[in-house]
Amino acid sequence: MSKLDPSSREFREAGHKLIDRIADYLDNVDRYRVLSNVRPGEIASKFPPLPNNEGRPYDALMTDFESKIVPGVTHWNHPAFFAYFSITGSQAGILAELLMAALNLNGMLWKTSPAHTELETVTLEWLRKSLGLPDGLFGIINDTASINSFLALAAAREALGFDIRGKGMTGRDLPPLKVYCSEHAHSSIEKGALALGFGASGVELIESDDKFRMRPDALDAAIERDRAAGALPCAVTATLGTTSTASVDPLPEIADIAKREKMWLHVDAAYAGSATVEPSLRWLWKGIESADSIVVNPHKWFFTPIDCSVLYTRKPDMLRQTFSLVPEYLKTTDSAEVNYMDYGIQLGRRFRALKLWMVMEHYGIDKIRSVIRDHVSYAERLASELTKRKDIELLAPQSFSVVVFRKKGIDEAASEKASAELLERMNASGRLFVSHTKLKNKYGIRVAIGNGATEWEHVARVLEFV
Ligand SMILES: Cc1ncc(COP(=O)(O)O)c(C=O)c1O
Repeated sequence: MSKLDPSSREFREAGHKLIDRIADYLDNVDRYRVLSNVRPGEIASKFPPLPNNEGRPYDALMTDFESKIVPGVTHWNHPAFFAYFSITGSQAGILAELLMAALNLNGMLWKTSPAHTELETVTLEWLRKSLGLPDGLFGIINDTASINSFLALAAAREALGFDIRGKGMTGRDLPPLKVYCSEHAHSSIEKGALALGFGASGVELIESDDKFRMRPDALDAAIERDRAAGALPCAVTATLGTTSTASVDPLPEIADIAKREKMWLHVDAAYAGSATVEPSLRWLWKGIESADSIVVNPHKWFFTPIDCSVLYTRKPDMLRQTFSLVPEYLKTTDSAEVNYMDYGIQLGRRFRALKLWMVMEHYGIDKIRSVIRDHVSYAERLASELTKRKDIELLAPQSFSVVVFRKKGIDEAASEKASAELLERMNASGRLFVSHTKLKNKYGIRVAIGNGATEWEHVARVLEFV
């Protein structure tokens, strides 16, 4: 028996109670305030400066959890959480997380747990087919889209053929390298480029059209200008489902430009990619055959607890060329085709495929599809109700499950003030949580539907406050 846990008796008792506690939470999550209203420092002040020396029973910890921690929780698993992109800690996903912790696998190499590697390969093939993505894509799970986009940009940089892996980027004759994305791309693209040494000046945020989609003519013009100045286009990111409005960049046109300019084409479908489990939404993928890499986040809209982000690429060799580095102590003699540690930065890897597998298998694709359809229909209904009101205007076309609107005002400042006040009132109520954005300098309230427990009555709270 372990020195830490001499018997499993306490674990069993606490574990059974914990599952009941979690089930009660999920049944009653709507009774909590969505957005925590504690003051900064309030939670930290409840804890002593040092941990105790003797250890404490689980019951005491649960009492502390309820009284000291829960008040500072913003309930991301609440059906009226509409801020940022709402997510779901589904029951199947929660059970999988428990199993993952129990096994505590580290899937760095195939042999460090063959089931880990092989289930990842299998589930990513299932996901690819369920979303209607093309054949011939290699998939890998990492924690977040931010990391996956970083890996894709690193591969894009290596694919230029300058042996940046071998020679680095400084003290040598390299042209300025350029990464392009729309002004509405997620900040993770720019951050990834910064971390890779492209520099802020190496990232061009391309203007969008009146529907917040990247303008291919503006991309063309930026490339022409950059080439004339001696810079070299390296990669372009098309966002299918932007963060502010879920707008969709024109992938076929961007793909043509990428091909002509020999740029790596990265597709960020972190949010909207999951929606294509519904065949009528697969128009999203028009032009996707040309993508070198694609990001989809099951932890956003595929009911898998955070964290689980998928990177697909048709050029896994480029990822390996960029990242594979095998020290003696990790060399293997088996014939495994995939050692996932070769395709990114991290060595240790959680068994995230287990939760994706449990979510897909337990709910089945039909149910996942129908929940996503419901979310989109709630967004359509919300948008239609809002447009009936004289004092409200939509700031962007409703897209997938995202609606952005504002209060009208006599001028921009009055509109922003009234909209911000409305948002504050909604969030202060604790009954729902929405976030904001700015579109062409106009302040908008943003509602993103995506939690597996959300019903129309939750979305209708927005209308009550409006
Ligand atoms: C379009 C898009 N891409 C990437 C991200 C980053 O996701 P992650 O938190 O997985 O890094 C987000 C986050 O909301 C997003 O909206």
